[in-house]
Amino acid sequence: LTLTLVIAESSIELVPNEIAGHSSVRAQAIRKRKDPRKLILDQSYHHAAILKLGSSGAGRGRPDIAHFSLLTALGSPLNQEKRLQCFIHTFDNHVVTVDTSARLPRNTDRFTSLLEQLYEEKVVPDRGRPLMSLKKQTLQGLLRQLSADLAVALTVNGSPKEMSAVAGELVEAENPVLLVGGFPTGHFSMDTVKLSTRQYRIDRRPLEAWSVVGRAIYDYEKSVGLDRF
Ligand SMILES: C[S@@+](CC[C@H](N)C(=O)[O-])C[C@H]1O[C@@H](n2cnc3c(N)ncnc32)[C@H](O)[C@@H]1O
Repeated sequence: LTLTLVIAESSIELVPNEIAGHSSVRAQAIRKRKDPRKLILDQSYHHAAILKLGSSGAGRGRPDIAHFSLLTALGSPLNQEKRLQCFIHTFDNHVVTVDTSARLPRNTDRFTSLLEQLYEEKVVPDRGRPLMSLKKQTLQGLLRQLSADLAVALTVNGSPKEMSAVAGELVEAENPVLLVGGFPTGHFSMDTVKLSTRQYRIDRRPLEAWSVVGRAIYDYEKSVGLDRF
C-alpha cells in the first residue's frame, strides 16, 4: 500500500524571457554566475520583476512551497516505511520525480539551485543514484503513468470532509493519488479539477500547502496503522 503525493501546479518555472533583463534578475544572475534565463523565478529575489508581469505574475516564483511540502513529506514515518511516493508537477507542465531516500537541502536557496541544475541537466546529482529527475509531462500524463484509480484533490472549493475520512477513502484504492496545490493564492485550474476523481476541503480555514501535506500524511498513516507503537 503506497500513497502518491503530487504537489500540483507548483509555482516553479525558469525566469520568463520578458523579465530576463530586469535589474533584479540580472543582479542575481551575476551573483550566481548564471545566464538569467537559467534561473528559477523566485519571489524573494525577483519581486520587482514579477510585478512587471502584471496580473499574470500573481502567485508565481514560489519554489519554497514545494520545498517545504517535500521536506514535510519526506520526513514522515510513511516515507520512512517506503510507502510514500512524491512528485512535483509545475504549472507549466514539468514533473519532478523525487527519490524517497533523497536528503533534500534544508535551505530553500540551495533547493532552488538544485532545481536550476535539474532544468539544465534533467537529473541531479549528475552521477550516482538520482535524487530528483525532471521531464516535460502534464498532470494527465503523470496520473496515467501512475495508473491512478483515485485522485483526490484537496482544495478549499471541495466538499467538506475530515481528513481522517478522506484517508479512509484513499486506503481503499489500489493506486491512490493526493493532489495538493503548490501555489500561494488562487485555485486549481479547471483541467486539474476535471482530472481529479473527488475534491475535498479538509478544514474550514485556508491553510498553507505544507500544513495540508503534514495533516494528510498523518491521517493516512493512522488509517494504515502506522501510528501504533
Ligand atoms: C495556500 S493553498 C492555495 C491557496 C488557496 N487559498 C486555497 O487554499 O485553495 C495551497 C494548497 O493547500 C491546499 N489547501 C489549503 N487549505 C485547504 C483546505 N482548507 N482544505 C483542503 N485543501 C487545502 C490546497 O491543495 C491548496 O491548493
